[in-house]
Amino acid sequence: MRKVLNKKAVLFAGLVVSSGSASSSEVEVLHWWTSGGEASALNLLKQDLESQGIGWTDMPVAGGGGEQAMTVLRARVTAGNAPTAVQGLGFDIIDWGNQGALANLNAVAEKEGWDDVVPEALKTFAKVDGKWVAAPVNVHSTNWVWANKPVLDANGIEQPTSWADFEAALKKLKEAGITPIAHGGQAWQDATVFDAISLSTLGAEGYTAAFVELDAEVLRSDEMKEAFDRMAVIRNNVDDNFSGRDWNLATAMVINGEAGFQLMGDWAKGEFVKAGQKPGEDFLCFRFPGTADQVTFNSDQFMMFDQGGEVSHEQEKLAAAILSPEFQSSFNVVKGSVPARTDVSDAAFDSCGKQGMKDLIAASESGNLLGSMAHGHAAPTSVKSAIYDVVTAHFNGEYDSETAVVELADAVEISR
Ligand code: BGC
Repeated sequence: MRKVLNKKAVLFAGLVVSSGSASSSEVEVLHWWTSGGEASALNLLKQDLESQGIGWTDMPVAGGGGEQAMTVLRARVTAGNAPTAVQGLGFDIIDWGNQGALANLNAVAEKEGWDDVVPEALKTFAKVDGKWVAAPVNVHSTNWVWANKPVLDANGIEQPTSWADFEAALKKLKEAGITPIAHGGQAWQDATVFDAISLSTLGAEGYTAAFVELDAEVLRSDEMKEAFDRMAVIRNNVDDNFSGRDWNLATAMVINGEAGFQLMGDWAKGEFVKAGQKPGEDFLCFRFPGTADQVTFNSDQFMMFDQGGEVSHEQEKLAAAILSPEFQSSFNVVKGSVPARTDVSDAAFDSCGKQGMKDLIAASESGNLLGSMAHGHAAPTSVKSAIYDVVTAHFNGEYDSETAVVELADAVEISR
């Protein structure tokens, strides 16, 4: 009896919902924003849409870098059941666009004037054959270091500006019984660290030659070997429980003073902010030593999947909300990233956000704005995965640095 009543209640609720035109519309959004800071940022988008009468079905798939989310996405598309909107990175967006799976956003892009305000570096991944297929929500970058300021102060450590300084700081922390580096041993996190480290030894040109042009000579170079040597130093300065740890738990170790540093993209700042910490007082953000004028970026974009026909009203609303200047400011302040449009004021951002915005412009003007290898903005996914495998195998002690460069060049050659 109870069951029957419940069924009736559900039916009735369904009728009420579908009779109102605004509340009958909704979007289903697949993403990997599951940490505290990420969820707070995403909530702003959800609330924005709900205030416009558009419901939100959440489809979270945990795992930084989005590998797991992309696996779920492939299964959904194969089953003929693509979500309305999906978080995507770089070459993955291009791939889906080339397969004809994405809706055409040109009408909303034109109405909202996206072409004038979205930087070229992002358009490269948001447009396929002149057609907007994704709405960029932010610009992140991966060559950041996050530090616990009181821990550094208590150990007489200044913000390191060179690799030698950084090594000296790690040594001091180890001697003081503090975990020098908070790290999570997951392939995408190892690769994120490698973004910053390889940039520091290769320079901007070498980084591009290695990860965009896939130049075998550079992949096997002494500078690449030096990058692996530095990765081994990082490995020697993480705690015993690093394996498999999620990135936000590593960030928490810095927040709690259990560890001194974390090498991670600026989504880490979302965790510091969420914990009520202030840059310059509680934590420091700075570019990885030796990469001060360079930025390895990745941009989260929402791909709108073709639902069989024209782009839907809800998809257009979602896309317009994502790129509205007000949302770009409020969202990115919480997320730790910087706006995906060039005309947003930095007034609401903290000092790390302001620096991020300044660095992005400077790097773009000086030719030092580089797509992140680790986050799918340098090479297609097959190459990225091949690099992940070698970097992780080396990090876990399977290869020495000399072997790693050979394995790297071979793996890239086979996967391209
Ligand atoms: C995304 C970020 C996200 C991070 C960790 C990156 O690939 O671009 O938005 O916060 O992964 O989940």
